[in-house]
Amino acid sequence: MGEWFLALEQSGLGEAMRGSSFLYPLANVMHIVGLCFFFGAIAIMDARLLGAFSGLALKPFIACWRRVAMAAFAIQVVSGFLLFSAEASAIVENPVFRNKMILIVLGLANVAAFELVTKREIAGADTGRPPLAARVSGAASLTIWTLVAVAGRLIAYF
Ligand code: HEM
Repeated sequence: MGEWFLALEQSGLGEAMRGSSFLYPLANVMHIVGLCFFFGAIAIMDARLLGAFSGLALKPFIACWRRVAMAAFAIQVVSGFLLFSAEASAIVENPVFRNKMILIVLGLANVAAFELVTKREIAGADTGRPPLAARVSGAASLTIWTLVAVAGRLIAYF
């Protein structure tokens, strides 16, 4: 695997991300802007799952903000990959980066569990306080994605 990361770092993309005076900062700004939209959508969805905005029907509310979160997540993956490509062989050895990737997988598993299991227990036009499983999913989501952002910020310090 190590040679794959070295090949990425030494590729035309890796060299461009290191050599250009604006590509890396641009990818970093994209990553921060993506974070704002991603975290904003996640926080609003999880607030609803935890019982806020209880006058609004849960399923259509989540479906609407899920689309924003997915678009923002795509921005995070593209901009993150660009940042990663500049120093791939070193960053992949960074324990904070590795933990961040594990947390992202955990966050996605939590989304899958909600979409495939928990959501089925909720009636279509359900307003009011969500069932316990949905509240647990919301609390887990808020915790995991906050840790992803914290880990992202700490990458540069390790
Ligand atoms: C929802 C997903 C993600 C979130 C919330 C997130 C969040 C962050 C945050 C807050 C930073 C600090 C930015 C800064 O201080 O300038 C960061 C840095 C970073 N992220 Fe992500 N990230 C995500 C996904 C990814 C992915 C998928 C990758 C790689 C494939 C990635 C690679 C990086 C790298 C390499 C840095 C370090 C940049 C630097 O310090 O210059 N991120 N991330």
